[in-house]
Amino acid sequence: MEPCGRGPVGVFDSGYGGLTILRELRRALPDRDFVYLGDNARSPYGPRSFETVRRYSRQAVEWLFGRGCPLVVLACNTASARALRTIQQRDLPGLAPDRRVLGILRPTSEEAGNLTKNGHLGILGTEGTVRSGSYPVEIARFFPDVKVSQQACPLWVPFVENGETSGEAVEWFVRRDIGRLMAQDPEIDAVVLGCTHYPLLLPLIEKCLPEGVRAVPQGELVAAKLVDYLKRHPEMDERVSSGGEIAFFTTEQPDFFDRRAAFFFGEPLSSAHVELEKQSGRE
Ligand code: DGL
Repeated sequence: MEPCGRGPVGVFDSGYGGLTILRELRRALPDRDFVYLGDNARSPYGPRSFETVRRYSRQAVEWLFGRGCPLVVLACNTASARALRTIQQRDLPGLAPDRRVLGILRPTSEEAGNLTKNGHLGILGTEGTVRSGSYPVEIARFFPDVKVSQQACPLWVPFVENGETSGEAVEWFVRRDIGRLMAQDPEIDAVVLGCTHYPLLLPLIEKCLPEGVRAVPQGELVAAKLVDYLKRHPEMDERVSSGGEIAFFTTEQPDFFDRRAAFFFGEPLSSAHVELEKQSGRE
């Protein structure tokens, strides 16, 4: 791939969830340019195999590089847990050694231990994220004394992707999965929403959590870490273009995406369609 000059930060998620991260990135870096890509046509990634998540994520990263992004954020915990390391270590050196791909699991883990007062932390995530074991491993590096329990919530993403964020059906599952988490460690006093879709369920999650247990979305943590990353890497900071532009792309139908995405992003937006599958032949 051609060496890359100045360009926007690429932000990728399996669907709408990454918009909750982009919203905070934009708040923290309002003058920077971003390109958002949601692979809505192939969402959810949560139940998919390691190999499939890796292949889909690599296609997305390649596509964002093709749009001129010097830096890509995998704004998806599942992709960060299952694909990031392989992309960074195996793909990037041959594909685009002058560019960078960052995840959101590590920046969240770096702060996670500070969220609990009593050292008992809960993680809610997709099956893929939970099965990878990445959160307990990463958090133990920074906070070896914190007890981490995690619970997969396989049906939450489909509910959110379908715009069902309140009502009896979704509440039943949210209550059940939170119950399972708390049963593992009744002393948990803080719960990390380890999936970018879950902030949309925040009012419901707060309703279902026992009193005194706080739910923490990742967006602000990730945004603060990106600001810090750019300060520590002036060579990358210089390559991220300014202008405050954001372009949105989806693998689904744009009009459908736009209607629902506004809910995640917090304001109206207009997207264009992109086909990632065509790239798979190049693997
Ligand atoms: N939003 C993604 C995450 O943070 C996953 C959603 C999915 O299962 O596709 O894990």
